[in-house]
Amino acid sequence: MSAEQPDAAPAVVVDDVTRVFSKRGRRTVAVDGVSFIMRAGRDLGIVGESGSGKSTLARIIMGLDQPTSGRVLVHGEDLTSKSRSRAERLRRAKLVQMVYQDPYGSLDPRQTVRSCLVEVLRLHPPRGGNVAARASELGDLVGLTPAQLDRSPVGLSGGQRQRVAIARALAVEPRLIILDEAVAALDISIQAQILNLLAELRDELGTAYLLISHDLAVVRQLTDDVVVLHHGRLVEQGETGAVLDDPAEDYTRRLRDSIPSRHWREPGMLEELTRVG
Ligand SMILES: Nc1ncnc2c1ncn2[C@@H]1O[C@H](COP(=O)(O)OP(=O)(O)O)[C@@H](O)[C@H]1O
Ligand SMILES: [Mg+2]
Repeated sequence: MSAEQPDAAPAVVVDDVTRVFSKRGRRTVAVDGVSFIMRAGRDLGIVGESGSGKSTLARIIMGLDQPTSGRVLVHGEDLTSKSRSRAERLRRAKLVQMVYQDPYGSLDPRQTVRSCLVEVLRLHPPRGGNVAARASELGDLVGLTPAQLDRSPVGLSGGQRQRVAIARALAVEPRLIILDEAVAALDISIQAQILNLLAELRDELGTAYLLISHDLAVVRQLTDDVVVLHHGRLVEQGETGAVLDDPAEDYTRRLRDSIPSRHWREPGMLEELTRVG
């Protein structure tokens, strides 16, 4: 886990956030009065079954959606505020980036992975300014070969595309990366590889993660603290190990017990799977 800085200002403050969707007369309270703090230097998990409001909350934290009421601060800034100048957008991009379950839709099939990274790096120049060198370096960091960098994302596997999405997020050098079910679509051994990669990158680059998952095993592996959502409400929060080992709420217990035990949860198995895969 990342180095703890208990006195640092919070990375994310979610303050009494509610998001109501009204569509064709149907009213859905996707997020219902949720408040929590993600502390700087602590990775946070948000868990809950499908439909519990996780992605809605992620979009609000990203500034892609507005809460119906309440507010969110990311490193002290309200990203939902209206200002949308180019300089402002670039600056905000450095605060938070998101990696989705299947990045396919957001990767342009007509360009190579390398040119996609170069495009991001031109907007967010790396230290030293060498865009081409940094693109290669990022590929290397996430375990893509030079040959894979020169292909279209169409020719890549799901796990490789997820590596591209992670590289693209890292290219911006954001303070926070939101991972919304980022490994959910992957085979179990590939999941293990990507989770290992994320843990390595955090140790190397000091990236903070806000990790959203329905899978408590995934959250246990990467986060320090956890928030449990149920029907848009926060039902429980605390240190990940403590909450998952001894949930205060029946809902958390059921969520935990509903996920079949997986072999890579056992100590040592993750490393083994990664070696084999
Ligand atoms: N754009 C939208 N319009 C209407 N309802 C939505 C919209 N986005 C999400 N919802 C509803 O809000 C609830 C929470 O959805 P979501 O945040 O996607 O949950 P999760 O990511 O936990 O699966 C669901 O009932 C979903 O149908
Ligand atoms: Mg979701």
